[in-house]
Amino acid sequence: MADKQRLLSGIKPTGRLHIGNYFGAMRQFVELQDKYTSYIFIADYHALTSVQNAESLQELILNTAIDYLAVGLNPKKVVLFKQSDVPQHTELAWIFNCITTMPYLQRSHVFKDAQAKNKEIDVGTFVYPMLMAADILLYSPDVVPVGADQKQHIEYARDTAQKFNNIFGETFKLPKEYTPKDSATIPGVDGQKMSKSYNNTIPLFGSRDDVEKAVMGIVTDSGGDFPQHVYAIHKLYKSEDELKNVYDDNKGNYKALKEALIADVEEVARPLREKREELTKDKAYVLSVLKEGGKIAREIAEEKMKEIREKIGVTLQ
Ligand code: ADP
Ligand code: TRP
Repeated sequence: MADKQRLLSGIKPTGRLHIGNYFGAMRQFVELQDKYTSYIFIADYHALTSVQNAESLQELILNTAIDYLAVGLNPKKVVLFKQSDVPQHTELAWIFNCITTMPYLQRSHVFKDAQAKNKEIDVGTFVYPMLMAADILLYSPDVVPVGADQKQHIEYARDTAQKFNNIFGETFKLPKEYTPKDSATIPGVDGQKMSKSYNNTIPLFGSRDDVEKAVMGIVTDSGGDFPQHVYAIHKLYKSEDELKNVYDDNKGNYKALKEALIADVEEVARPLREKREELTKDKAYVLSVLKEGGKIAREIAEEKMKEIREKIGVTLQ
């Protein structure tokens, strides 16, 4: 039988997960874990640009590992690891820094946004796409499931692979993103993209109260019978056919529609929350999953790095 195709993705441990992370990215990891050989990691070195407190970072990393397991990643099928446990990522990122120009990185949305806001940008954020390219290219994945906001980063990885291949000879497979159309950009309670940074999220593992508060806060325009922002989120939980009756029966009754949404969100959230609570009690298990995953990831990454070091000429024969 032919080898299974490979999948790789990562999430930064920077805060509480929201339903945008779940529908935009994590759910795909879970759905695809049988079909692909999967490498899923916690991008802790990427988080260092914004989390600069040891205690907080430790807590965020552990919580992200628990989140991954709670949504259904099976460590028997998926290699789950911490980026910082595989130093080959930062090693390769340096090599990429050396073949990449400043103007090329200045075209990134992240850089342009920071510039537009007159914010001083740290060097780590500036070269973020190079570390991400290294994360990806070390494992030669066939697909990289991410939300639409990460598309540009995947393009950086593809361009960088191509540039390296041109200079040093064929080494990297060009990666492709995997973004399901219906969940590429999940809107937040204000209709903008849902994001930790915009304070417009519905927490994935939130209590019923948290969910209720968030859903009741969904912005509804006063005219019309149909609360668009409520519907846009509701569509993630029920098919449009199923929703048609609910929305027809409750025309103009925003409160009833929001209550229906709360019930549907809660139905998905409850089992995830329960699984999460169980895992929280077993830190030793979670740490052992990361340790084992790190070991496997390091072996794969080191094999690729050997080839790369030879190609660039730092290995003496
Ligand atoms: P945030 O914007 O909340 O900081 P992250 O940057 O940590 O989220 O994103 C983690 C993953 O979740 C990425 O793959 C990203 O594309 C995806 N994601 C985040 N927000 C959304 C959203 N609103 N819709 C779809 N995918 C999303
Ligand atoms: N940049 C991604 C985010 O903000 C996280 C990430 C880091 C990632 N390295 C990656 C995602 C490699 C996919 C593949 O969510």
